[in-house]
Amino acid sequence: SFIDLLLISGGIFFVFIKNYNNLNMKNIYKNSQRNLNKAKKILNKDNIIAVPTETVYGLAGNAYSNTAIKKIYKLKKRPKTNPLIIHYYDLRGLKNDAYIDNKFLKLYKKFSPGPLTYILRKKKNSKISLIANANLKTIAVRFPKNNIIRKLLQNLQFPLAIPSANISSAVSPVSSYDVLDEFPKKLNFILDGGSSKIGLESTVVNLDGKTQILRPGAISQNQISKVLKRKISILKTTNKIKSPGQLKKHYSPGIPIKLNCKKADNKAAFIVFGKKYKNNEKNIFNLSKSGNLEEAARKLYKTFRKIKNLGFKRINIVKIPNNKIGIAINDRLRKAAY
Ligand code: TXA
Ligand code: MG
Repeated sequence: SFIDLLLISGGIFFVFIKNYNNLNMKNIYKNSQRNLNKAKKILNKDNIIAVPTETVYGLAGNAYSNTAIKKIYKLKKRPKTNPLIIHYYDLRGLKNDAYIDNKFLKLYKKFSPGPLTYILRKKKNSKISLIANANLKTIAVRFPKNNIIRKLLQNLQFPLAIPSANISSAVSPVSSYDVLDEFPKKLNFILDGGSSKIGLESTVVNLDGKTQILRPGAISQNQISKVLKRKISILKTTNKIKSPGQLKKHYSPGIPIKLNCKKADNKAAFIVFGKKYKNNEKNIFNLSKSGNLEEAARKLYKTFRKIKNLGFKRINIVKIPNNKIGIAINDRLRKAAY
């Protein structure tokens, strides 16, 4: 009858609205001038938002504001000893906050804007919140390449502290939906920029004291060595922890991971790489059928998140070639498996 129809359609509508609200899709804002202005207003009020970058999505707040920085640490449940990366539009802003030298400038000219983070000596009169860099003598700085975050940075009177937009020690988000997955509540503005091009966090290079890579990423050790005309090393994770942020357990999908597997244990999700694996079973996830390491990097966190959400209790993964961005992939896998 008509009444039944009304009740059924009402029910469907109710379920739809409920799911819609649960997912808070309305908190995702498309890239437009209007939404960039909204983002700017929120940031000017010392509130925080999620933003896209070419590496991973981040939680952004005014780097000069203790209020904003406290909100970031609280939302991420991040230990206060783990400092944030400060993001700038260009060199002009940076000069108020850090000392720069030739070594930095050489790398900057070659790799910025892009997925490289520099550890520099902080200036005494810098306005960077002392909480943002865990009261260290140095700050981590990056010039992201993604054009949405660049447009935003260009229109602000302050740099942005932007850690990855995940709960501390979990997997970084690589799309606005992933950010929602991490923060279904308590975050009401996510600026959408599609899928992150790179999918792994930036390379971090220390330039204060010993020149060394603290976190491998898309910009490789070889590329950096070439520009500086000398071989530089990668900090070993087994070393004594040098930077407070070099936590051993990190990037964890929340279920156990076994590395260098030839086949899958019973009921485990099996992450593979290359053409010799057929995707003929529901538990097989191929990072790149063509054996492309960049594609694998882009898909890694997405695959972790998918496997977790499908309800698998364990992950097995094949050996990933340890060259180029494979070095960064293996770094994340080791820490995820720790
Ligand atoms: O690609 C990226 O870098 C992303 C996007 C959003 O830009 N951000 C990111 O931030 O990965 P986060 O907070 O997840 O990682 C920052 C890393 C941590 O390992 C931290 O310890 C290190 O940078 N770091 C920050 N300041 C430092 C400092 N002064 N000295 C040494 N390491 C530092
Ligand atoms: Mg992170």
